[in-house]
Amino acid sequence: MTASPTPTTLSSELAERLVSAERWLVLTGSGVSAASGVPTFRDAQTGLWAKYDSQALATPGAFRANPTLVWDWYEWRRSLIAQADPNPAHYALVELEGMKPALTLVTQNVDGLHQRAGSKSIVEFHGNIVRNRCFDCGVVADLEPEGDSRPPTCGHCGGFLRPDVVWFGEAIPQTALEAAAHAANAAEIFLSVGTAAAVYPAAGLAQAAAMAGATIVEINPERTPLSATADYVLDGPAASWLPAIASAVREGVS
Ligand code: OAD
Repeated sequence: MTASPTPTTLSSELAERLVSAERWLVLTGSGVSAASGVPTFRDAQTGLWAKYDSQALATPGAFRANPTLVWDWYEWRRSLIAQADPNPAHYALVELEGMKPALTLVTQNVDGLHQRAGSKSIVEFHGNIVRNRCFDCGVVADLEPEGDSRPPTCGHCGGFLRPDVVWFGEAIPQTALEAAAHAANAAEIFLSVGTAAAVYPAAGLAQAAAMAGATIVEINPERTPLSATADYVLDGPAASWLPAIASAVREGVS
């Protein structure tokens, strides 16, 4: 029994707003990658990792305490992501970027699926799991490090390599913060897709955009802290709503 498709009819008021607005900030979370089979950050872990709490592993302290365990966890996540492909939600954002050159995509996801789909204007708010960097000197390293030590060691200083992602308790890269804040302050449309809107500073971007006068649109099958203040809440999956938005803009601009 396949689930009935989510009705994705946009109100004419919203469709007109989407067609006329040029400056968009799209904030994505792990819900955008759900249709690609990548578990959301808060999904229960499976198999060997079922007994671990993701949030307890994604910290500098966990890495210092047991670098091999944390490295192996990320290698497992990379193996999941390697089997995943971008889904219609990712491709709809590529099409929207082609029609809206002033669209900025800020993603909390580290899976690299937006890049693989072809999005160009991406702000990686939490880094990218497909890159490694040295835990000690910070140099970004080749993805295929030499040797079979787990973690591999840095070719510059001999320190341990780690995934180039933001861990709990770590700062967002300054360039990402500035680019996202700039886009939020200029936004006419703020589209929050597939995020629980619970982790700051990413979750604060919607407030900044609203203060700048943006129309706030949320796509999520569940309610979040943003839902109460959003101008439009599109209830359902990103892989249904984003293609509907892309076709409304395509028809509107053609
Ligand atoms: P979460 O796992 O917290 O939330 C996923 C959101 O996606 C939830 O609100 C779901 O309802 C929604 N969702 C699930 N399936 C969906 C679908 N098919 N279409 C649309 N939405 C769907 O993931 P994030 O909000 O992305 O940070 O988490 C944000 C950050 O919290 C992560 O980047 C991570 C974590 O701490 C770091 O690792 C630094």
